[in-house]
Amino acid sequence: MKILVVGSGGREHALLWKLHRDAPSADFFVTRGNGGTGAFADHLPLDPGDVGGIARWADGAGIDLVVVGPEAPLADGLVDALRQRRVPAFGPTAEAAAIEASKVFSKDVMRQAGVPTAEYAVFTDAGAAAAHIRSLGAPIVVKASGLAAGKGAIVCDTEEDALRAVDAMLRRHDFGDAGQEVVIEEFMRGEELSVFALSDGRDVLLMTPSQDHKRVGEGDTGPNTGGMGAYAPVSLVDGDLMHRVREEILLPTLDEMRRRKRPFTGLLYAGLMLTEDGPRIVEFNCRFGDPETQAVLPLLASSLLEPMMAIARGGSARDLGLEWRPGAAVTTVLASGGYPAAYEKGREIHVPHDLEREDDLLLFHAGTVRRDGRLLTDGGRVLAVTGLGPDTAEAARRSAAGAERIDFEGRQFRRDIGWRELERAGAT
Ligand code: AMP
Ligand code: GLY
Repeated sequence: MKILVVGSGGREHALLWKLHRDAPSADFFVTRGNGGTGAFADHLPLDPGDVGGIARWADGAGIDLVVVGPEAPLADGLVDALRQRRVPAFGPTAEAAAIEASKVFSKDVMRQAGVPTAEYAVFTDAGAAAAHIRSLGAPIVVKASGLAAGKGAIVCDTEEDALRAVDAMLRRHDFGDAGQEVVIEEFMRGEELSVFALSDGRDVLLMTPSQDHKRVGEGDTGPNTGGMGAYAPVSLVDGDLMHRVREEILLPTLDEMRRRKRPFTGLLYAGLMLTEDGPRIVEFNCRFGDPETQAVLPLLASSLLEPMMAIARGGSARDLGLEWRPGAAVTTVLASGGYPAAYEKGREIHVPHDLEREDDLLLFHAGTVRRDGRLLTDGGRVLAVTGLGPDTAEAARRSAAGAERIDFEGRQFRRDIGWRELERAGAT
């Protein structure tokens, strides 16, 4: 069997790691890969954005399954191009990926599907947007409709902040095309939760819930990042809540997507807010989350390949199930100094040789590259260290201790990943 994973981050390393466990004798390929993925896969010199090139290569190489990690190639139609060539691909078509790539589309689907979410209005005119903000007041959320690499949502504590955000999007065009339309949304209060659902278009297999840590600083302070850590499972969530997420949010959304002739197959990621009134959807993503994947997949005891393959071949998820190992996973992200603002690349990374031999510790590479036998930093988020343990406290200890042993100039990481869960555990 031949499997291609598209993407180069920690999420893709984790996907490769899991698929390799599920099928140790398969041949793996990755575009473009990073300093860690070479252990499992051949690196292809194809850009993840090269939709035509990847589809041609996968067809010619006789690939049995393509798994697409990032949202951009999905929105650009990589899965459509693969399907045209009858290459099985796990991921949504471009039309279905609009559930992430266009917030205007996504909010419209949520409204039609009747799923609980924030009230909203859409604007292209800065004056009208400003009047709307003044009539509602703060806190309020301003979002660029298009893909903005995770930076398109601005939570505004004051009216002035919201007016500035609208100005940046609609007058100064700081977000390019992505900000030509803005969604102005009600602010929702609560804890956030990430739920991954493997979708065959009709039905879902739910994965164990996780929580991301978006702020750069400990205690969730400082600017937003691509994610500084994650943990799973989340004890706030019981069977009843997962049932509600499935019945009130995921299934109605899949029904509405089918009604629009854009059936969503692949990984539907529900970014939820657990409000006083129950779970409400903040956003949908059309792919696995990063760094949640690096915490969730190590807990998956059953095969990921099997449901992915079934779905990619147009089959049903109904008779398949997922099994989870007991215990918890905590993932700490090591980032370059300065991140999420400007940072330098090319710093040499020192990883102790025995680190990866520990059973309860996994190292996933993100922004790393191997050059002349050395491992160097090559991005803002550099590595993710996942600790496994019988409970969150032990997993967090292992993760933080593992991160501490890895060294590169300017290295930064949060030593408090999982703190909400630990506070909950302490409170009971
Ligand atoms: P998004 O790009 O839609 O995922 O938003 C990014 C982050 O902004 C979310 O993870 C939340 O932390 C925050 N956010 C977005 N929309 C809202 C909302 N309506 N109320 C509160 N926080 C929000
Ligand atoms: N963890 C947030 C994301 O992947 O979008």
